[in-house]
Amino acid sequence: PRCFALVPAAGIGERSGAGMPKQYVEIAGKPMLAHTLTALAAVPRVEQTLVVLSPADDRFEAALPGHTGWVARVGGASRAESVLGGLAELRRRGATDDDWVLVHDAARCLLRPEWVDALIDACEHDAVGGLLAQPIADTLKAGDADGRVTATVDRRDKWAAQTPQMFRLGLVEKALAAMGAAATDEASAVEALGLAPRLVRASMANFKVTWPEDFELAERWLYQVGP
Ligand code: CTP
Ligand code: MG
Repeated sequence: PRCFALVPAAGIGERSGAGMPKQYVEIAGKPMLAHTLTALAAVPRVEQTLVVLSPADDRFEAALPGHTGWVARVGGASRAESVLGGLAELRRRGATDDDWVLVHDAARCLLRPEWVDALIDACEHDAVGGLLAQPIADTLKAGDADGRVTATVDRRDKWAAQTPQMFRLGLVEKALAAMGAAATDEASAVEALGLAPRLVRASMANFKVTWPEDFELAERWLYQVGP
């Protein structure tokens, strides 16, 4: 089986407050999406990366001039729908049930190739597949609408799910189709089929740029370690 990457980049980035889809916000001189694609391109076992854009996207060509990889304007109203559109496009381009698909958020632009290699190493002979994740370090609280603690949650078996998430095309397509728009990641859809994806530790630095202050955090990191 081959390994493909699929990058959903069809969101509007509402929580970021950037006034444009956050994947096009420049970080250390390059759009966030460009950093993401550079990291994936540095993983030799990833044969091709498909970028999923919104049908209404009018920024990609100007933001990533000269991009030669696969691009499809098949994004939907939710992340899950964008991923399903991308999976169908991968099939049109020759991918089959047994091929691995690494779904990676455009907004996780601090991805390092070595984390992707670790994920592939851990999953390529696994019956289910898996995801990058980080054990929770902080004490976890549940809270109510008034911002008051309702409970302290045992953190010892908790992980923060990241991406890439690596599953076989046939499995992840079936899982997402069954769960519908509600799935916020691929693993939760696979779990709903009664399967247990493998957790592969990456780094806190693989965070998803979500809030306004995250752009500066990401930029500082990129200036430290380079693209
Ligand atoms: N995404 C997508 N299609 C959607 C929604 C999200 O392809 N309909 C992508 C985003 O572009 C992003 C990734 O899924 O790379 C993770 O989603 P998120 O961080 O929630 O991004 P947005 O949905 O754009 O941000 P927000 O939820 O704040 O609007
Ligand atoms: Mg979103």
